[in-house]
Amino acid sequence: MTTFSRHLYTPILFALLGLSNAFLAQADDKQPDSAKSVVEQIVDMQTKIASGPHKGFRANHAKGIIATGIFTPSAEAAGLTSAVHLQNTASEVIVRFSNATGIPTIADTSPKANPRGIAIRFNLADEAFTDIVSLSVNRFPVSTPEAFLALLQANAATKADSPKPTPIEQFLAENPSAQAFVKIPKPAPASYATQSYFGINAFKFTNAKGESRYGRYLITPLAGNIALDEAKVASASPDYLSEELAARLNQGEASFRISVQVANDGDSINDPTVVWPEDRAQVALGTLTLKAIPADSKTIEQKITFNPLILPDGIAPSEDKILLERPAAYAVSASRR
Ligand code: HEM
Repeated sequence: MTTFSRHLYTPILFALLGLSNAFLAQADDKQPDSAKSVVEQIVDMQTKIASGPHKGFRANHAKGIIATGIFTPSAEAAGLTSAVHLQNTASEVIVRFSNATGIPTIADTSPKANPRGIAIRFNLADEAFTDIVSLSVNRFPVSTPEAFLALLQANAATKADSPKPTPIEQFLAENPSAQAFVKIPKPAPASYATQSYFGINAFKFTNAKGESRYGRYLITPLAGNIALDEAKVASASPDYLSEELAARLNQGEASFRISVQVANDGDSINDPTVVWPEDRAQVALGTLTLKAIPADSKTIEQKITFNPLILPDGIAPSEDKILLERPAAYAVSASRR
């Protein structure tokens, strides 16, 4: 297991935030920040720091690849939720894997490309759909959009010659959850299909009997978690993840188990910085099986906007402030693509 020493904190934070190390710029203000929502200020920064706007690309998780396949629900999923895609019929899915940052050409080998993302669209009857949007880390650094913006601002205020403690060092010292986030090992995966992903934000699942439980998504590769060692990262192609996925799906399939980690009474439901103990019950929701990279992959990628709050009956959001603001941020980014 890789561990990250203190000098690596800044690049890893930058990766999460969609920043490049070259980031020193201020937001390109057509109106004062005070007139903008917090999420719009966040998206402004992610864009600027990635030397954007990059027309046609997302403000964060700009580099990605689309795959298609099916999701088959498990027999036990209906015991947790009455959601239509988790009963006994399979759904077609569109999945997008991605690197962190708003840099469309970021090398897959860059430490800033972590955390990776997975976004899953379940196509339902009558053109309805629902999405799961998750990351390759099991927590978020902060609990509110305001704190996320403050984290960005601390990064922005930190220059190569900033006196110690620098603004980012000060932020980390004052925010143990952000400190804990940057310490999570984030090795480069051998494949998008050999990486676990985590929902981080909790949702409320309600079954047909009206029984409700809170839980978080876990997306686990059936091929196991396999990372590259440093020598392999050094010699890998800058696009090795998309090349590998295309080759893998050319020869066969790539599957993941989707499950829900269920909260115990007293677990923190609305705080995405708090990881629940591993002994919490898990309910298998089903199997995601990816089959192909579609020929019109790039068109789909440009058009599709995932949204973790488009939910069927049987699944509702928690009151996690990060979760509740995500759709607004994604809408700002999508409107500018
Ligand atoms: C307030 C907190 C957050 C902000 C402001 C934010 C911002 C953004 C933005 C602007 C995008 C680009 C959206 C688009 O153009 O479609 C994005 C994409 C993404 N975000 Fe977040 N995000 C936040 C929290 C999270 C969390 C908690 C997760 C996972 C648990 C997450 C996972 C992702 C993924 C996987 C993508 C790529 C989606 C795709 O493939 O289209 N984000 N985020």
